[in-house]
Amino acid sequence: MPQRVLTGIKPTGSPHVGNLLGAIRPALRLADEGLEAMYFIADYHALTTIHPPEQTPDDLRHMTYEVAATWLAMGLDPERTLFYRQSDVPEIFELAWVLSCFTSKGWMNKAHAYKDIVAKREASGEPDVDAGINIGIYTYPVLMAADILAFDVDLVPVGKDQVQHVEIARDIAQRINSAYGKEVLRLPKQRLEENAAIVPGIDGKKMSKSYGNTIPLFAPPKQMKKVVNSIVTDSRPPEEPKEPEGTIFEIYKAIASPDEIAALATRYRSGIGWGDAKKALLDRLETEVGEARTKYDALMADPSKIDALLLAGAAKARKTARATIDRVRTATGIAR
Ligand code: TRP
Repeated sequence: MPQRVLTGIKPTGSPHVGNLLGAIRPALRLADEGLEAMYFIADYHALTTIHPPEQTPDDLRHMTYEVAATWLAMGLDPERTLFYRQSDVPEIFELAWVLSCFTSKGWMNKAHAYKDIVAKREASGEPDVDAGINIGIYTYPVLMAADILAFDVDLVPVGKDQVQHVEIARDIAQRINSAYGKEVLRLPKQRLEENAAIVPGIDGKKMSKSYGNTIPLFAPPKQMKKVVNSIVTDSRPPEEPKEPEGTIFEIYKAIASPDEIAALATRYRSGIGWGDAKKALLDRLETEVGEARTKYDALMADPSKIDALLLAGAAKARKTARATIDRVRTATGIAR
């Protein structure tokens, strides 16, 4: 039996170049490694933070479609990879309740997303450290454990920030298995993606939605140009030789091949104008996403196709999740 890998994608913003290189490409490569892959859109996780008035229901809907269309356009093959929307698999939420009955409150106090908010509050002298924190944020790791444990997953590829969440999933599964004296739930392992690319944003810091420094993946070429042109450069004249470094070069380095990188480095050293450097980056970005943009635009023009694909994936996913829930209900004495 091939190992089963699963990962969730939270639809909280429009996909950008950092997502492509840091998450999407590495995940698609796993599916090529002969692992059985399950990728899903964690829309109910997004609901912990996507609220009116800042964000509308249409925003959430749109971000969900954007994420789905992006992964499909980038080559996710729904025939080979189970691709679904979390909210279309109600068994996950039933399991989440059972898991929460075996989750120590202390574990949630220590889960970093919650702990970080509390630490910030304490540091700023805010008297109510829990102000504005909903229970969904607090128990986020329980729902994530259900995402994983519902499907007898072997491996969860994660970045550093999600390691603790997978550990909590394992702890909960272990507690249930030991309470009932048998393997009710399969223990998952994390697979830390250490060499996932970290792409700098247009200000040189790590590209991230929260820094507002992203290059969108599928914006129209004109807008891409505007974003790349906004990268701040210095006033050295074009003919002056330059070390191959700085934000433009670093972003280029994250997407291009070694040969292309060497070629651009040569151009830097023999003197390059910043306009030409930006054009080189833009052209390389276009090579990377031009074809995919056409697929992406077609999907976004008719989201009912996306819905149909995701629902077909969910129907398959539900079969596995149903078997897990039945096992859990029997083991716990809920079902006969
Ligand atoms: N918490 C993950 C993130 O913010 C998304 C996620 C939800 C996830 N459920 C998951 C990842 C299950 C892996 C497995 O990126």
